[in-house]
Amino acid sequence: MRVTATTEAAASTAADTVVVGLVEGEGVPHDVEEGALQALVDAGEAQASPGALAVAHAAGKRWILVGLGARERLSAEGLRLAAAAAHGRARELGASIVCFELPHKAREHQPARAVVEGTLMAAYRFTAFKTSAPDGASGIEALIVSDHVDQAGEVARAVVVTEAVNAARDLQNTPANHLTPTALGARAHVVAAAHDTLSCEVAGRDAIVERGMGAFAAVAAGSEEEPALITLRYEPEGATGPVLGLVGKGVTFDSGGISIKPAGSMADMKYDMTGGAAVVEALGAIAALKLPVRVIGVVGATENLLSGSAMKPSDVVVSAAGLTVQIDNTDAEGRLVLADCLHPAIDQGAERLVDVATLTGAIMSTLGKVYSGFWADDEGWANEVAGAAGEAGELIWRMPLHERYAELVKGATADVANQSPLRTGAACTAAEFLHRFTGGVPWAHLDICGTAWDSGRAYGPKGGTGVMVRTLVALAERTAAGPAA
Ligand code: BES
Ligand code: MN
Ligand code: ZN
Repeated sequence: MRVTATTEAAASTAADTVVVGLVEGEGVPHDVEEGALQALVDAGEAQASPGALAVAHAAGKRWILVGLGARERLSAEGLRLAAAAAHGRARELGASIVCFELPHKAREHQPARAVVEGTLMAAYRFTAFKTSAPDGASGIEALIVSDHVDQAGEVARAVVVTEAVNAARDLQNTPANHLTPTALGARAHVVAAAHDTLSCEVAGRDAIVERGMGAFAAVAAGSEEEPALITLRYEPEGATGPVLGLVGKGVTFDSGGISIKPAGSMADMKYDMTGGAAVVEALGAIAALKLPVRVIGVVGATENLLSGSAMKPSDVVVSAAGLTVQIDNTDAEGRLVLADCLHPAIDQGAERLVDVATLTGAIMSTLGKVYSGFWADDEGWANEVAGAAGEAGELIWRMPLHERYAELVKGATADVANQSPLRTGAACTAAEFLHRFTGGVPWAHLDICGTAWDSGRAYGPKGGTGVMVRTLVALAERTAAGPAA
């Protein structure tokens, strides 16, 4: 979909369909044909309740009236949802050029950004493996954002970020026999090749072993697929602020290994590379936006399978940081991969760390599909990450770190164990496990188990959500813009 901004009135654009937001108790802005749209409101056919839809034909165009709710409850998220709802109706009706008329006096909600995000995220479909076009395929070719002030900059930024979200969704939705660790590495190369400020290195099994990444290598040992240690480096001229280290879990399929998962929902474990996808695509967006900040992205990509060469419960391995790790449960593989990916990020100069991972089912039990779990060991950094997520409109909820959780992942035989002997507090003990590998660098951990797929939002069709791409980009913007902690 082509997306542009205009300061022209919606009625005089080339659009066949115009979307107008209705705020409770306020008249229709820029009405046409002496009140044709207001008449629909007066008749009760068009309503201002959030997401309500009505359609009219006037002045040679189709008009979609979408409810925005009460003015004092207007929000960026409300605008994203309204845009998604309007997009759905426009698509059904066969619209091809849609103009969204931004609501007045809504500047503080960054409406241009919200409308572009809501529309492009809602328009996303994963059809790579369909041999015929599915019903209701989008014919919408263009979105025009109309406002009294020029929104071209905001629109361009939103397009870059949302395309990165949708690219992450493509990676998530691609089945594991196609999206192998090698394929994820190849995608990282493609992303990097588009920007001369972005470089990419992909190391395979031999290098992982050679670099002493015994924990990562142990996870990869059960699969014949070559693992990939993906390193992206974004080094623009004139960068300021601390060096940002983004670390992603890229388990392209998690069977659980010898501690095998039940069959029921194992297919969902193709999504276990969501954190890695977010890191790769966020770096592409950060480079495209030319943000003046240095970023190192490290993604550990591997399958977690069972075979004669797989790691076993009771195995002890040596991590790149030198700590020995006792593998009590081969299904707690994400922390093994991440522990060894934090090391090169720190080694290469990361001064602030964020890891993103579908790490524990426990966080999904706790926060459901609404919030991602969030841990941080530095208040200044915690505020930056929370601020970035807030700006991006992604929900994260702070969870505790505590020495008593850390005690639960002390090993009997080795320095640390990859599972607590108690079943309780599993998301927090996983966080404390990772904490042992952060080398004192301010760190935040995002457990996105519940939010990675099937969000149930109007702008999130079934499947991958591309969660955390928007937050990571916003975080890079903030890190570039000013002194963090
Ligand atoms: N990838 C899973 C976590 C997961 C579970 C993601 C459900 C999405 C949906 C992770 O590797 C895992 O298996 N975690 C275990 C840890 C446990 C063995 C300590 C879990 O949460 O059960
Ligand atoms: Mn697992
Ligand atoms: Zn996993």
